[in-house]
Order: sequence, then structure tokens, then C-alpha cells
Amino acid sequence: MATKNVTVATIKEMKQKGEPIVMITAYDVAMARNVNEAGVDMILVGDSVGNVMLGYSSTVPVTMDEMIHHTKAVMRGNSTALVVGDMPFMSYQASDIDAMYNAARFLKETGCTAVKLEGGAEVAPLVKKLTTAGIPVCAHIGLTPQSVNQLGGFKVQGKDIEAAQKMSEDANALEAAGAFACVLECVPAKLAAKVTAELKTMATIGIGAGNGCDGQVLVCNDLLGVSNGFCPKFVKKYANLHDITVEAVKSYIAECKDRSFPAEEHTFKIDDSVLEKLY
Ligand code: KIV
Repeated sequence: MATKNVTVATIKEMKQKGEPIVMITAYDVAMARNVNEAGVDMILVGDSVGNVMLGYSSTVPVTMDEMIHHTKAVMRGNSTALVVGDMPFMSYQASDIDAMYNAARFLKETGCTAVKLEGGAEVAPLVKKLTTAGIPVCAHIGLTPQSVNQLGGFKVQGKDIEAAQKMSEDANALEAAGAFACVLECVPAKLAAKVTAELKTMATIGIGAGNGCDGQVLVCNDLLGVSNGFCPKFVKKYANLHDITVEAVKSYIAECKDRSFPAEEHTFKIDDSVLEKLY
């Protein structure tokens, strides 16, 4: 459990020691406070904010300004976790200048420590530029949701020999470029474990990638069961906040309707003599 500030050096040390790294997404101040209190090592302000908080059907529409807004809120609630800001679609793909400028915005405007971007060997030269400029990078390979239109849907990645080989090469290229961590999303467990074992310094953070990664990440709303919609196979719901929320709001509605809320203890008083003097 994190009791002092988690840094990039802490994550690298955890990989060396084989100590599991725990990451969770958060998008606002309340969740940031709660997950810090629970003791997470890393918070990802994921572009999943688009699906989870903003109601978009994919992460594609998410903008830099939306990411900055949510990352600032998370930073206000953060105490010890290492916070990673997720570079949204088209904030880094068009040119390295865009990418450097937008990555710098995360660090300068929000105070977060690192940025995450999707892609394999093709983004390694960019990762090298960012890390050389002092911007820590968490990479993301396997299922990369920003390319969902290209991938043809949300599917497990790396299942055939070419794809598995490419994933291993991508991971090695990203490590060589200086990424300190890499999300592996929807990757067969044995392949993720093999890729993890090959890497010397870059920690793998799995989501739907089995328990052989250096760490795990889940979307906070998924693990808390905030909604009762579709839930991917790799999610474990540790709570059912959907049912708790609906029941709580039903009770509130019922008590407002029968006027049992607000009760005596929720009510402010005034001396009757003051009221009597009113015209
Ligand atoms: O945006 C996000 O939340 C992510 C995680 C699923 C890793 O990229």
C-alpha cells in the first residue's frame, strides 16, 4: 500500500522486486480521494472518461480540454498515487509537435506525473522524444480503443503468430524508447506473461491480460459496479453501487413524498418570537 509519493522510480523498483503494481482509473476529486485512501499505486485519468462519465459510445470524441479538466480534478484529490493523463485520440497522432505540446499541457496545467499513449513500435520514436524531454510515458498495446474502427471491434489481440510476435517486438521497442510502463489490454494471459518476463525495466499493467503482468488496472466504475450495463469478461465487480444507488434514491423519493424527510435532525430552528414579529 502506498504511504509515500509513488514516482516513476518507485514503479521501476516494484517491477524489479516483483511487487504487484495496482492502478485504477479516476475522473474526479471524490474518486481520487477514495482510491488514495485505499492505497492504490497509480491513477489513470483514462480517456475512458468519454464512455464512463460523458456518455460517448467510444473514446474517439474525447478532447484534450476534457482530459485536462478531469485530470485537474483528480490532482486536487490526489495525495500519494502516481497520476497518468491519457492522451486522447488525435492529440499525438498527427505530428510530434502536437504530441509534445499536448503531453506538456498535462504536466504543466494539471501537475500529473506522466502521460499514456496508445501504439507499438510505430510510436516508439515519439516516446523517445517525450522521455528525452523529461515527460514520463506509459505505453498501451494490445487492444487500443482509439483504433477500434481500425481493429474492427473490441477483440482479444495477439492470438496468431504474427500478432503475438508483433506484440513482443512492440513492447521491446517501447521499453528501448524509455516508457516506464505499458498497459497490455485484452491479451492472452500466457503471451502477456511471456512479454512481461522479457522486459527488463518497463512494467506491464494488464487489463484482460491475466495475472502474469507486473500490475493490473481496472476502470473504477466497472470494479465498483456503478452501472448495470455491459461488463467485459475481464472485469471483476467488487461492489454493486448501481443497486445501492437506485435503492438509496428510491428511499429518498419515498421519504420526500410522505414528508418523513427532512426530519427534525436535518432542520434549522428559529425562535417563535421572531416569527410573531413578522408582518
Ligand atoms: O482509458 C482507459 O481507462 C484505459 C484503461 C482501460 C487502461 O486506457
